[in-house]
Amino acid sequence: MSSPITLLEVQSVAKAFGGNQVLQEVSFSIQPGEIVGLLGPNGSGKSTLLNTITGFEAIDNGSVAYRGKRIDKMSAYQIVDAGIARTFQLPSMPTKMSVMEVAMAAATSHHGFWGTLIGTGATRAAEQEACDKASVLLHELLLTPVRNLPASALSGGQKKLLGIVCALMGNPQMVMLDEPTAGVHPNLRRDIVTALQRLNQQGMTLMIVEHDMHFIREVCTRCIVLDRGHIVASCRPDELSSNERVLQAYLGGHGAETAATLEEQA
Ligand SMILES: Nc1ncnc2c1ncn2[C@@H]1O[C@H](COP(=O)(O)OP(=O)(O)OP(=O)(O)O)[C@@H](O)[C@H]1O
Ligand SMILES: [Mg+2]
Repeated sequence: MSSPITLLEVQSVAKAFGGNQVLQEVSFSIQPGEIVGLLGPNGSGKSTLLNTITGFEAIDNGSVAYRGKRIDKMSAYQIVDAGIARTFQLPSMPTKMSVMEVAMAAATSHHGFWGTLIGTGATRAAEQEACDKASVLLHELLLTPVRNLPASALSGGQKKLLGIVCALMGNPQMVMLDEPTAGVHPNLRRDIVTALQRLNQQGMTLMIVEHDMHFIREVCTRCIVLDRGHIVASCRPDELSSNERVLQAYLGGHGAETAATLEEQA
């Protein structure tokens, strides 16, 4: 039987900042339709890994391929056009644009609002399409009441939600989310979980950096665990608390204590 088509293939990726080797020999693949949790202690390299895959940081070694095509030399906007969107751990927003304008500006360069702005033949219909899509996404992520506020005036949690809206504006096939629920109220967290599960049911593949074990258990089909720039585990969420290398990564040997913590949170 033939194996499924690999969507994302990361092979032997290395990244250093000066003498700080942040990623080493990082290899994994993601199949279409997966929801992969990316876990690891603070500073283990999770955001850096997202940055290298999405073109915000150049890799020193290795390769990244999306649908069989190398993307590791592409710029961030080319990677968005290829179909991968992302959110940021600490989103910052412009002061002069409203929430609605920020969402519309995130429509893809070829089909959306940017085309209208720079007059490259995009039509009024494209602008209307971006407007309609932004309205729907802002509604789904409960941002309609603040759509006319300056984006910089949003709370930290609301900026996270607007980051998700922006990522979805270009109809990506894959989204990488960096701690989407950190600082978000539990009620709203539920809405994010529901929204992500619905997007996945519609065919979207997700990779999610997350510390919250409830979220991981509920949402993710598989987890990849980073420790000091190395992948130490790739397993189902329910296997995390019995994985020695995961326990070692989180508490450096105090395995029983960590297992209890992971089970408590689950
Ligand atoms: N642009 C940069 N320049 C220099 N060092 C960096 C840069 N970005 C990240 N680092 C370093 O890389 C290491 C990993 O950082 P990273 O942000 O990837 O960790 P993380 O796993 O996302 O942590 P957290 O859970 O706290 O968000 C840290 O030592 C950090 O200081
Ligand atoms: Mg991070």
